[in-house]
Parts: sequence; structure tokens; C-alpha cells
Amino acid sequence: MKARIAVLISGAGTNMAALLYAAKLPSCPYEIVLVASNNPDAEGLKIAATEGIPTFAVSHIGLDRAAHDAVMHDAIVEAGAVYVALAGYMRILSTEFVAKWDGRMLNIHPSLLPKYKGLHTHQRAIQAKDTVAGTSVHLVTAELDDGPVLGQIEVAILPGDTTDTLADRVKMAEYQLYPKTLADFVARNTNPEYLTAQVRTLALAQPEADEVLSHGMPCFGINGGKKFAYVSVDHHKDSKTALLVKISGVEEQAMLIDSDAERYYRPAYFGDGWVGIRLDLGDNDWDHIGEWIAKSWRAVAPKKLTRLMDLAEEF
Ligand code: GAR
Repeated sequence: MKARIAVLISGAGTNMAALLYAAKLPSCPYEIVLVASNNPDAEGLKIAATEGIPTFAVSHIGLDRAAHDAVMHDAIVEAGAVYVALAGYMRILSTEFVAKWDGRMLNIHPSLLPKYKGLHTHQRAIQAKDTVAGTSVHLVTAELDDGPVLGQIEVAILPGDTTDTLADRVKMAEYQLYPKTLADFVARNTNPEYLTAQVRTLALAQPEADEVLSHGMPCFGINGGKKFAYVSVDHHKDSKTALLVKISGVEEQAMLIDSDAERYYRPAYFGDGWVGIRLDLGDNDWDHIGEWIAKSWRAVAPKKLTRLMDLAEEF
């Protein structure tokens, strides 16, 4: 299953086109399910529509920021997108919108971040007599152009470069960088090794936690004793990567499966006290998964440990 991407643009949309053409390669792990814009006249919308990609445009004029972001958010969700790729989307985003796509929204910026956040990046690089400019793809966080950098390409500045000639070459670098970085990023989120490593970090952060291998599964327990988390990778050839955690019993298990039958399942041989949570659907909320792990730890932890934790929390 390919990862479903919504691309947001404001103008020419040439980066969007680069993402779109890369997505036509059979090996590409993502597909573009929507191109949306705050500018109904954006050139890129025509390219997308002609390529058979659904488009959506609502001008921000006359709407406050949160309201416009909410309209865009609804369109993205409606299209079934799991990731958002900003490609020349020249809008400052509301904190609500950023929070909703936390860890799943990428942006491309025409500088070697953290250098030259904001506008006029090429002009600033030339004025500063830099010898290299470049482009960065980063995760979007609340702070403008500030999230973790996922990939960069340096572009040498030629003597005599103008803002325009430099911008053209940086764009060529962008067309290489964005599709590759996006592909690696979405592939990582279904890669069992990456997913196991994420769980490991969260599980081993619990007090007195340790790891063993149990029935071939990475398994996390407390001091060699009771187990609170397993990672199931293609166990019984089910081709799923999932986290198994403790729950209160059959009712909670049924309720979870009922709420989202794709994500939650009854793990074979574990009984009613456990639930399987798929990690390979591409939309993991790691804070939420951390909460599951902490809750599971608490369910099996000896009283003396939980009492210590409660005391620590009181202070
Ligand atoms: C790209 O160069 C992108 O890096 C930049 O806008 C251009 C969009 O061109 N983005 C920003 O400046 C974001 N701060 P495009 O519409 O042809 O892809």
C-alpha cells in the first residue's frame, strides 16, 4: 500500500510536479491523492488536474487563519491523506493545524537551514558572499522553518549569480531532494526495524525496563520479570508490524477493535489481556504509543515501583 500524500501549493507548483512525476515510478512508496491551494489561480493546480490528481482551492482572503487552515485540513482528511507535503505553500500555519499533522508534515525551504529562515533566501546568501546555497526538507513544527531537517542539498554559488540564476539552480536541486526525502520518510514509517527501534526507545525509558527475545519477538519486561510490551514483526506470517500491550480485559479489547478494526486486533495466543496495535499504517502518533506503553508498564509493575512513581509525580 502506498502512503497517501496531500501536497499544498501557492504558486507555480514545480516542486509538486517533481513529487508527482516521481510518484509515477512503480517503486515510489507514496502516491499523491490531493493537490490543494490557498490560491485558486495557482498554476500548479492545472498541472495536477491535467495529470488526473484531485485538486482543491479556497482563497485565504476573507477567512481568518484558523478558519482557512480548518478548511484545508478537512479537504486533506477527506482525500484520505496521511501525510502533508508543503511545496511553496506561502502561508504561516496555525498552531492547531501544525499540531494535527505533527510528525507527518514536511516542507521544502530554499536555503541550508538553519541558515536563512523566512523569505529572500537567495538574495541574503548572495549578499552575505556565501559560497554555497542550497535547499532543505524538514518536518514542520510550530516555529517557522525550524523543524528537524530530513535532507539537504548544497548548491555552489557561481561568481556573477543573480537571485534568479541561483534560484533556478536551487530548484533543480529541490526536484532531486524532495521526492527522495519524502520517499525515504514514508518508507521509514513502515520499516519494521525503524518501528522496533522507536518502540525500544519508549519501552526502555520505563523504570527498570529491560529487553529479551521471546518467541522471536523483541519483548520488554521489568527486571527480567513481568512483560509489558512485545513487538510483533510478521509473526505467524501475518505481514503486520505491531505493538502488543496489556489492557484491562476482553471489554476494552472489543471496544478498541470496534473503534478501529484496521489498527487494533486480538493477538493470537495472548488472550484477552492484550491488544495488538498496528505500527505499520504510516500514521503513528508516537506520543500516544508512548502512553500505551507506560500504561502497560503500570499494569504489570510491582506496587513498590508504582508507589515510587506516584510519589515522584506528587512533587
Ligand atoms: C520553492 O523554491 C520552495 O523551496 C520555496 O518556494 C518555491 C516554490 O516553487 N518555498 C519557500 O520559500 C517556503 N518558505 P514551486 O511552486 O515552483 O514549487
